[in-house]
Amino acid sequence: MSRLVVISNRVAVPDEQGCPAPGGLAVAVHATMQEREGLWFGWSGQVSDEPPPPTTIDGGHLKYVLTDVRTRDFDEYYNGFANRVLWPILHYRVDLAEFSEADFGGYQRVNEFFAERLGPFLAADDILWVHDYHLIPLAQALRTQGHNNRIGFFLHIPMPPPDLLTTLPHHLELVGALADYDLIGFQTDNDAGNFARYLTRVVGAATPDGRNYQLGQRRFRVGVFPVGIDTDGFRRLAEASMHSPAAEEFRESLVGRALIVGVDRLDYSKGIVNRLDGFERLLEKYPEWHGRITYLQISPCSRQEIPEYIDIDAAVSAKVGHINGRFGAVSWSPVRYVSRNHQREDIAMVMRVARIGLVTPLRDGMNLVAKEFVAAQDPEDPGVLILSQFAGAAAELDAALLINPHDRDAVADAIHTALQMPLEERRSRFQEMYAVLESNDIRYWGQRFVDALTRPGRGPTW
Ligand code: G6P
Repeated sequence: MSRLVVISNRVAVPDEQGCPAPGGLAVAVHATMQEREGLWFGWSGQVSDEPPPPTTIDGGHLKYVLTDVRTRDFDEYYNGFANRVLWPILHYRVDLAEFSEADFGGYQRVNEFFAERLGPFLAADDILWVHDYHLIPLAQALRTQGHNNRIGFFLHIPMPPPDLLTTLPHHLELVGALADYDLIGFQTDNDAGNFARYLTRVVGAATPDGRNYQLGQRRFRVGVFPVGIDTDGFRRLAEASMHSPAAEEFRESLVGRALIVGVDRLDYSKGIVNRLDGFERLLEKYPEWHGRITYLQISPCSRQEIPEYIDIDAAVSAKVGHINGRFGAVSWSPVRYVSRNHQREDIAMVMRVARIGLVTPLRDGMNLVAKEFVAAQDPEDPGVLILSQFAGAAAELDAALLINPHDRDAVADAIHTALQMPLEERRSRFQEMYAVLESNDIRYWGQRFVDALTRPGRGPTW
């Protein structure tokens, strides 16, 4: 059986004891490797003026190959084009995009550099699976170097409609480079549909059936593969976490108040300020909840060298201070805000204790926190998920309370409804969502993608 080569900017390297790293992609990659050998290639997390040869780590079936990136390229590639142009535009925030030719050049150079570094490790029959917006031109760079392998690409973040995508300078060159893949996977029908419209209306690709495309000499397919989670693993983690001293201390700290929880990387796409606005509206509109609820927002800092991330950090802190100042009492702070990183078991515990999970991104490819919140619940007494209609997860988790995150009254009303929701309704919504998670576990996701890539007649649902 051919080897599977996974390529992503960040690589989930096993810890010093050789235990695989947690996280969706790591679980999917390991599950897909059960029957085959594999290699995972990506950035080492280090920059250097003259990167030394790649480091290799032997992980049994799976070998890890990590490379540094040149200092001067990294800033243009990661802090520049990937996270100040592609990230905002693909999240529908064209107003935040800061394009520069220099950054675009750095992005292309890092992709070419990755291709050069990976090339010597490749065998002719390896199957390659490339992840996310950092590496769109990687297949093109590999093909230029003479690699004719089967290569698939999966976009973890949204694909916006053509009117937004075409605001991207060089979009024809960049998005056109996707044609060098054999299979391009998206999270939702909406993303795949937006891309299909771009292909047919903007670049004039031909398609007989909306799944197979031809652009110039290249033929490729488009499919939908919604990312899942390790449902059973997270459920067990949440159950076990309840017996820890941390859980006891945490529950005591709530002094019987109902917990509302938000867990998001600190990113403007997550809608944290809008969510706080909705919470403030709840306190204005429904004063009966004063002193009876605690909203805990856990938001580890992210991409801290990028100005928009410095701004969102300041905006969230200011809003939390404003709400606590306006509504708090000497013995009650409505909002607790924590920006430190937490262990997965602590997150699972907090989710299980919570009465409400607030997941209100303004736009999100999938949002695995929504899925983890559901998996963490006690089936006998589950909490309620309030979910943005603009998260990819909403397509699957329609038994959540779906809201428009831009509508502060809708957020406030949903919290009010969730706080009063009868046990029967909470159970039936939970059961429906948990069944969805079980049927689309992260293990199947990797297998379905690789299956579709290797056996062209099978796989994509779209
Ligand atoms: C999103 C992206 C990932 C990325 C992650 C964390 O989930 O889809 O590709 O790794 O954010 O962002 P970071 O910039 O820290 O890698």
